[in-house]
Amino acid sequence: MIRVAILASGTGTNALKLIEAAKLLPRVSIELVIVDQMQAPLLQTLKDSESGLNLQMILQDHSLKGSDRRKEHEKRVLQALHAENIHYIFLAGYMRILSAEFVSLYRGRLINIHPSLLPKFPGLHAYEQAFAAKESHSGVTVHFVDEGVDTGAIIAQAQFPRLDSDSITDFIARGKSLEWNLYPEVLKRLDRDGKL
Ligand code: GAR
Repeated sequence: MIRVAILASGTGTNALKLIEAAKLLPRVSIELVIVDQMQAPLLQTLKDSESGLNLQMILQDHSLKGSDRRKEHEKRVLQALHAENIHYIFLAGYMRILSAEFVSLYRGRLINIHPSLLPKFPGLHAYEQAFAAKESHSGVTVHFVDEGVDTGAIIAQAQFPRLDSDSITDFIARGKSLEWNLYPEVLKRLDRDGKL
């Protein structure tokens, strides 16, 4: 089995789609979901669904400062990943930049979904950036994570048009529905090919 972990910080709609898709896959299993925010809606959703998933909340220690805080947090995340012998990590709205050390440990096995047609609009609020730039179309990207911000090699992309009548809400909704299709497709590819 290919053992996958999901790291999420928020609503976790992408995480939920991955969890749903994995149920039908013979070689991929979601062995761990790590949430780093006590208020993350995903935490409640998964608790309520009694999914039986290994769900761990790993919070930052706010008594520590700056880089010590991040190092300690990553150490605890890594311990959880190692304990479950995780092969691939899928970031699903995980709002932390991972250190170069972390990235090097999972190089080629650390995946992210980003809401733009990278290399356009990296960083935060990518849908809003693309909408403000009046792009005629935008899209979503699944990519490997490297040491940069949204600079890793692209695994898959999907495009959608911007309609004249679009509000930002319409625009984001169209993008999100593509994300919910594309990310599970990549998980299916991992299942089929045994690697990405
Ligand atoms: C998604 O739109 C994802 O593409 C984006 O955060 C959202 C998380 O939503 N990720 C990034 O912007 C990464 N740079 P979700 O928690 O409902 O999956």
